[in-house]
Amino acid sequence: MSMDIPERYTALVAHEKDGRFVQSVEQIATSDLPDHDVMINVKYSSLNYKDALSANGNKDVTKSYPFTPGIDAAGIVVKSRDERYRAGDKVIVTSYDLGMNTPGGFGQFISVPGNWIVPLPNGLTLKESMIIGTSGLTAAIGVEKIVKQGVPPYSGELLVTGATGGVGSFAVGLLSQLGYRVVAATGKLDQTDFLKTLGAGKVIHRNQITDVPNRPMLSAKWSASVETVGGEMLDAVIRQTEHNGVVTCCGNVLGHEFHTNVFPFILRGVSLMGIDSGIALMSDRLRIWNLLATDWKPRFLELICREVKLTNLPGEIEKIDNGKQVGTVLVSLPD
Ligand SMILES: NC(=O)c1ccc[n+]([C@@H]2O[C@H](COP(=O)([O-])OP(=O)(O)OC[C@H]3O[C@@H](n4cnc5c(N)ncnc54)[C@H](OP(=O)(O)O)[C@@H]3O)[C@@H](O)[C@H]2O)c1
Repeated sequence: MSMDIPERYTALVAHEKDGRFVQSVEQIATSDLPDHDVMINVKYSSLNYKDALSANGNKDVTKSYPFTPGIDAAGIVVKSRDERYRAGDKVIVTSYDLGMNTPGGFGQFISVPGNWIVPLPNGLTLKESMIIGTSGLTAAIGVEKIVKQGVPPYSGELLVTGATGGVGSFAVGLLSQLGYRVVAATGKLDQTDFLKTLGAGKVIHRNQITDVPNRPMLSAKWSASVETVGGEMLDAVIRQTEHNGVVTCCGNVLGHEFHTNVFPFILRGVSLMGIDSGIALMSDRLRIWNLLATDWKPRFLELICREVKLTNLPGEIEKIDNGKQVGTVLVSLPD
């Protein structure tokens, strides 16, 4: 089953020019899309840290250019050889290879294997699903690990690092909504009101976490953490975590290596739990998306979101490069 598909579509394209990477909005032949089973007319995408890496020519993310980034997409199926999907179905695609080496959600059309698709759950609009996007999904996976590990809302304080970022701000909002006492650690104290509106009880400068003595264990402060930046922050958070506390780890903004010691693990029973939303099992994705459409439906989506068009993306990508991004950037594709 299929719908009318134009010969060309509009997309943001990253390409190398005079030794540097630039992004521009261009027309692309639909026939250039990969020949996967399901073609989708993208209505919304969202901007992620990984999209900035792809747009800036990071070969660990994207091997070949010109290329259309966008690891997130939500839209309507226009053509399908996969019997699970029909033209007109509303669907979500996040991660796998989308926006890495498969043209991504910053274009009006994508072509993907059916196994990458999550049907839009009842209770969410396409727009809401992309305000959540990979950053919200990642935060929710982390929060679910904390909940499943048995950290109750009446426990002590929970820490969120990189708190104004896409993952961080969603984690602050979701944990607060679930009744946890959240401390937001940020480099942007001028965003204190934003973080408090999302529910943070306290906002502290991130240096307060990392400017600490080099002891194997520090005063126990956090019953759990959604740690989004990695490097020395991750080490410091582990050493400040309470007995039986949980630290979730998803990011490498501050570095992909970190040095720590065994004492928080063997003397305090701290658990370090990794998150990879990129290859999360489909059963886990469906469960988390369903939670986000029902019991955990975020009441703070309007607070964290700014809506932009493809033409605005180069400026928004630059803000990520400079660590200046706040909240979630929702990308609306042209009709
Ligand atoms: N594993 C996964 O499945 C997964 C999924 C999504 C994202 N990620 C990763 O998670 C990380 C965060 O992603 P995101 O989408 O939230 O990115 P983002 O929106 O760009 O936010 C990153 C935040 O990190 C903080 N930061 C920036 N530079 C820093 C520095 N030098 N030192 C300490 N903190 C700094 C800033 O927050 P403050 O100013 O508030 O401190 C910034 O807003 C990235 O590394 C991304 O690749 C992983």
